[in-house]
Formats: sequence, C-alpha cells, structure tokens
Amino acid sequence: MRGKSEGEDQSDLFAKSGQPAPNNTATQAHEIPRDTTRGDATLSLLREGYAFIPQRMKRLDTNIFRTRLMLRDTLCLSGPAAAELFYGSGMLTRIGAMPQTVLRLLQDKESVQQLDGEEHRHRKAMFIRLLMQDDDGMTRLVALFRRHFIAHLPEWEQRDSVALSTEIDRILAETALRWTGTPLATLDLSRDGRTLAEMVQGAGRFGPRTWLALARRNRLEKRIRSIFKDIRDNRIAVAEGSPIDHVAQHRDRQGAPLSPRAAAVELINILRPIVAIGRYIVFAAMALHEHDEWRRLLAAGADELLPDFAEEIRRISPFFPFVGAVAKEDMIFEGHRIPKGQWLLLDLYGTTHDETLFPEPHRFKPHRQLSWRDRNNAFIPQGAGDIATTHRCPGERATVEILMEAIRILTRDISYEVAEQDLEVPLNRVPAGPKSGFVMTKVRRTAAPDTPSAPGQ
Ligand code: HEM
Repeated sequence: MRGKSEGEDQSDLFAKSGQPAPNNTATQAHEIPRDTTRGDATLSLLREGYAFIPQRMKRLDTNIFRTRLMLRDTLCLSGPAAAELFYGSGMLTRIGAMPQTVLRLLQDKESVQQLDGEEHRHRKAMFIRLLMQDDDGMTRLVALFRRHFIAHLPEWEQRDSVALSTEIDRILAETALRWTGTPLATLDLSRDGRTLAEMVQGAGRFGPRTWLALARRNRLEKRIRSIFKDIRDNRIAVAEGSPIDHVAQHRDRQGAPLSPRAAAVELINILRPIVAIGRYIVFAAMALHEHDEWRRLLAAGADELLPDFAEEIRRISPFFPFVGAVAKEDMIFEGHRIPKGQWLLLDLYGTTHDETLFPEPHRFKPHRQLSWRDRNNAFIPQGAGDIATTHRCPGERATVEILMEAIRILTRDISYEVAEQDLEVPLNRVPAGPKSGFVMTKVRRTAAPDTPSAPGQ
C-alpha cells in the first residue's frame, strides 16, 4: 500500500471535517484530471446529454474532472463523497450555479434554492410542513390525482389513441392547481398546465422553444403574483390551511411576508414539479410494458411491491442529469484543491448508474430496496442528505406517492394496448423521454367507477 504524504493526510482530514483547508495545503493537493475535449465542451454536453459526465469519468478513471462549460472553468464530480460535499458540507451555494435560463425556468431567483444558511432552513421548513409532515394533505393530493385521472377516462375511451406523456401533464396540472387551492379565475387549466410542463421541458435546451417557455412562465408568474396581491389586500379568500394559504401566510425570520414575486415563485416551485412527476409515470408505464411479470404481480394487488417498483423507476430513469453549485470558500476535496468561486456539477444520473454502487445499473431490478427515506448519498435522483438543512428535494414523498397511485391505476383501473411505436429514449435529449410519448390504444376502464371525494372540491 502506498504511504500517504503529509499533504494527503491533511486533505482527508479537511474533507471529513468539512472545514476549509488552510492555504499551505494547496501546493500538496492532487491535480484534477482534465477533460480532453478541446476548448469549451458545451456543444459536447448538448450532444451527449446524460452521458457527458459519466463517459468522461470512465475514460479518465476518476470521480472528478475539470472541463470548460459555457466559457466557465467547471469541475464535474460523481459518487457519494461528492454528494456529501454538495448536500452535507455547507461549503457550497446554489447562487450563480445555473445558467440564467435554467434558473428562471426551474427554481428561479428569490426561491428557497437560492437561499443559504438560516434563511434557507427557515423557508425550507414551509415546504417540509406541506410536503413531508402533513399526512392529510398528502392523502388529499393522491386522492385528487386519482380523481382527475379517472375523470379523463371516458374521453380516452372515445379516442383511437392517447399519448400518455401529454395527457399526464394535463392531469397533474389540474391536480396541482386544485391541491394548492390556487384560485382559477385568472388562470386557464389547459394553457397554464402546458406552461408548467414546458418549464421542465425547456430547461435542458437552448433556443426558440426555451425562450417561448420563458415568456409563458413570465406571464404565468405575473398572474400568480397578482393573486397573492389580491389575497394580501383581502380581495380574494383562499381556503385556510391550503398550500397557497401557507405560502401567503409565510413570514421570514424578521417576521415580514414574502413579496408577491417570491410567493409566486414558491407556489410555482410546488406546481411545476408536481407536473414533472408525469415524466416518471411515463417511465413507469414503459417498465410495466417491458416487464410483464411485474405488471401481473402489481395488477394482482401486490401493494407491498409498489414502493420498490416506484423507487427503481426513480433510480433508473433519466431526469435531472446533474445539479450545480459554487464553492463559498477554498477547500480540499479528497486531496483536490477547490478554490472559492469554483463552479461544480454533481452527476446525479452517473451516480445512480454507477455499477460499483448499483450492480447492473442499466437493468430494471426493483429488489434493490431503495427508499427516499435513506440518506446513503448514492441513491440521489432528487438530491442527498438531510432534507431540512440541505437543498435536497422536499418533494420525494409526494413523487413516490403519486407514482405509486399512477402504477395502481395503470395496472388495476384501466386496460389498454401499447401501440406500435418508437419507445427509444434518446439520452442526448434533456429531459429524456420516449420519442413516441407512450401511445396507448383501446383504453378501457376495468374497475368499478369509484367516486373518491377530495375535500375542498
Ligand atoms: C418530479 C420529480 C422530481 C425531481 C426529479 C426533483 C429533483 C430535485 C432535485 C435534484 C433537487 C435538488 C436541487 C439542488 O440540489 O440544487 C430538488 C429540489 C427541490 N425540489 Fe424537487 N424534484 C422532483 C419533485 C418535486 C416535487 C413534487 C416538489 C414539490 C411539490 C419539489 C420541490 C422542490 C424544491 C422546492 C426544491 C428546492 C429545495 C431547496 O433548495 O432546499 N420537487 N428537486
């Protein structure tokens, strides 16, 4: 075994303690492998999509490498130690970590994701109350989803074919707007539902479609801002205890309410990702189609297998390829010197497809016993670490609950045939999905119509 130099010992110590390394370790730090792409690698990233980071990690036999993206020196990292750095160290910030278009389409300025330290924890607590701790709220969300899904069936039965990826966006947008208690007078379920879906769709690209999505987002944000102004001025009332009420009533650490803009941004931060769950539902429909043994088991009522199935969908499906962050201070990570201001990307997709962490990573194997409740820093499709104190997604519980309900409906409440179609999922398009959108034919209701009564409807 190779002995460690003094510098390496110090590096490990600092990596573990999460403390900034003193400057004198800089000279002893390991050199970071460099991507061999000549010049700026942005075009390669756009061409290669999800494979961009993992392929280079493999080629360079590393879990960290340096490249240049959008004319910016960038470090790409992968694996549990990197996840710990991103979500457990407190040494990084999300401010300045995403290109402006991506930031505006997803989390946006003034959102919880753009806060650090105590301000972040305080705002995050609102999301945790709504999405993690309110059992009744979660039951109501799932019941609403079922109700809206079932309500679309008579129309689907009349049609020759239905593209699940389009239909599920509509169903989830209706669910999200109703669940949050958003007044619909100034909104349009169909138009605004599409806008919510386009925000995720447009975030992985550049060009006219992205700009269009941005323009539509701006208009929706403006309408929601005016709703918050009206709530504040008592011109409209919202249901007490509803998610929109929570956002309207939220006070910052100094006791001030959120500005109408910040409130609109945070409401969209609940609406948009609920619609995004549809992407996992489409991947689940594909998995049911490709693994008939699982479809039959779940159709027969094996509820105990549902969490394993849903969690494996979250692991294997390409969604967010990576997240970005910026170093708040000089530090040493596994012997590598990272200066303050450095841009970093954590490879979520590569980590959840790392064969040393998940054997046969590209095989759908629901027996891996994964759970959003774990904090093992390897199963990180929606971030890692402690939800309350890090930027880990607060929506994992809702994602899994809705996904499980969708699988119940697809296996027990309806029958359908899967049309001849191109189900290839190109990994160079972010976010990914089957080319055909998963087209179903001969959709029929199988179970007896139920009338779930969702409160507040
Ligand atoms: C559709 C599946 C989802 C995926 C793939 C996903 C992914 C992620 C990821 C990777 C992060 C971490 C960002 C970072 O580290 O900077 C995140 C954060 C966040 N997610 Fe999700 N998410 C999903 C669903 C949801 C849902 C259903 C909600 C709410 C209803 C939600 C709300 C949020 C919020 C508010 C944050 C920011 C948290 C913070 O900065 O503290 N997400 N999500």
